[in-house]
Amino acid sequence: MVRVMRKLRILITAGPTREPIDPVRFISNRSSGKMGFALAEAARKAGHDTILVSGPVSLPPPRGVRLTAVETADEMRRAVLREARHANLIIMAAAVADYTPAEPARQKIKKNAPTLRLLLRKTPDILQELGKRKTSAQTLVGFAAETSLVLPRARAKLIAKNLDFIVANRVGIPGSGFESTHNLATVLARDGRRFPFPRLTKRRLAGCLLTLFTKSM
Ligand code: PMT
Repeated sequence: MVRVMRKLRILITAGPTREPIDPVRFISNRSSGKMGFALAEAARKAGHDTILVSGPVSLPPPRGVRLTAVETADEMRRAVLREARHANLIIMAAAVADYTPAEPARQKIKKNAPTLRLLLRKTPDILQELGKRKTSAQTLVGFAAETSLVLPRARAKLIAKNLDFIVANRVGIPGSGFESTHNLATVLARDGRRFPFPRLTKRRLAGCLLTLFTKSM
């Protein structure tokens, strides 16, 4: 018997977001986009219709992938919610900023004062919103970037955000996580299964993750 691969529409997010403090400064994080871009390349290579929503990164756009470039968490939310309606598999590898300046200054802030207070407001949790809207035709995958208690914290996110899988990766150590070419991850499934991976290049890990998620669909 020949198994015909189902062509899926896969939505992937990558990179950081930038939250403006004033016209020249922003709050961001160390995400390079490598993990999300590797996933998009693996999805495209497997023949799927692939959409990538990315924050500011310095990687070349993967060929054959529809790329939407965004800057802030709010912009990422709008782009993701627009594309999510038509996606079968959604993988949120982006490191969306959790807080944004409540009132970004219109003019460059002057450095006259010895200290500067910034009031931050929480950004919308895009993944949680996707979890609330998820249909029976969709598989929803999140990432959990943790410096400690990695698996219990990842499991809590899996439940709270109504995900099918979560990729738990330890961050804050050299040689994996943010910026690195490699990553060390364990996937937790909604049904309690656990898939630990050795430290792999993000490219190899992306291929393994994609196979795991698409096989379950
Ligand atoms: O980009 P690289 O340098 O290759 O690094 C890869 C990575 C470390 C960024 C990646 O592997 C990773 O862990 N991405 C998720 C980072 C993160 O924001 O994790 P979190 O535990 O804070 O968030 C949990 C999930 O909620 C994530 O899927 C995130 O995309 C999502 N989220 C978070 C906040 C928010 N406001 N909206 C969200 O959708």
